[in-house]
Amino acid sequence: MSENGIKPYVRLVKSSELDVLATIQRRAFIDDPECNYFGSVDQPLSDEVDSPGKQHLETFFRFLTKACLRCGARITVAVVPSSESAGEDSEEKICASTIWMPPNKRISLGSVWALVRSGVFATVKGWGLNGLIRVGVEYGEVSGRALKEAYATRGLKKQSPDSSWYLQLACTDPHEQGKGYMSLLCREAFAHAPSSIFTLEATTSHSRDRYTHFGFELFKEVRMGVNKVNKDGLPAKGKEAEGVPIYSMVKWE
Ligand SMILES: CC(C)(COP(=O)(O)OP(=O)(O)OC[C@H]1O[C@@H](n2cnc3c(N)ncnc32)[C@H](O)[C@@H]1OP(=O)(O)O)[C@@H](O)C(=O)NCCC(=O)NCCS
Repeated sequence: MSENGIKPYVRLVKSSELDVLATIQRRAFIDDPECNYFGSVDQPLSDEVDSPGKQHLETFFRFLTKACLRCGARITVAVVPSSESAGEDSEEKICASTIWMPPNKRISLGSVWALVRSGVFATVKGWGLNGLIRVGVEYGEVSGRALKEAYATRGLKKQSPDSSWYLQLACTDPHEQGKGYMSLLCREAFAHAPSSIFTLEATTSHSRDRYTHFGFELFKEVRMGVNKVNKDGLPAKGKEAEGVPIYSMVKWE
């Protein structure tokens, strides 16, 4: 229940809401180490200051969300009706969102048509080909390898992690964090697909701890950008260039 007594709830996103969603995603990930690495950011981005880096981040999220939808994603939002007009035609405020890829539906560089129609060229224009390779190839390899290992360790060698529900992206608008919106979204997802395996990568210790609370087990920490960037995803050399951590996690059925 929100402070004004209006109850938040979960529903599927509407196609008319994708731009609003991209802005929320950009705000939530403005200082995310992985995103800094993908975007070859050389100094921290800020929501307060307009910059090309900030715009490129939003462009990427708009592209990613559209491409995921075209590849079969189930995108849910946690919304609250606006306090002034809580009637039938009321505006709803999106507070948080999850992009779930159902079993055997994944976004990949092979989905060429879906990527082109979703705006991959705008992302390449902003982040360069290097950005696309980091997010589309390097990330996929690192995360896929860890999940395969997790399945093998569990004795599920013959089962592909692609048969799980995969959390491609989750975020809560920074002003709305800590109010239980991600809990609401995760519980709805678990109820939607009971007795399923859910997989994800957390990109910060903050989100890792919250996913643990939802029943995800940390399988292992892997790194991207070793010898190139520091733990915040910013350019570094020598000892500092330890790379950004990614936490591979599974919620077994
Ligand atoms: C990670 C993130 C999605 C969490 O969203 P949120 O809406 O603030 O989370 P919630 O308020 O629903 O809290 C989640 C749960 O964790 C619990 N929690 C809070 N602090 C915790 C901690 N230190 N350790 C473990 N659990 C904790 C809360 O009590 C809540 O559980 P409950 O509903 O059972 O009480 C949000 O911080 C975010 O968008 N971060 C930036 C983007 C990001 O990192 N996304 C995830 C990577 S893909």
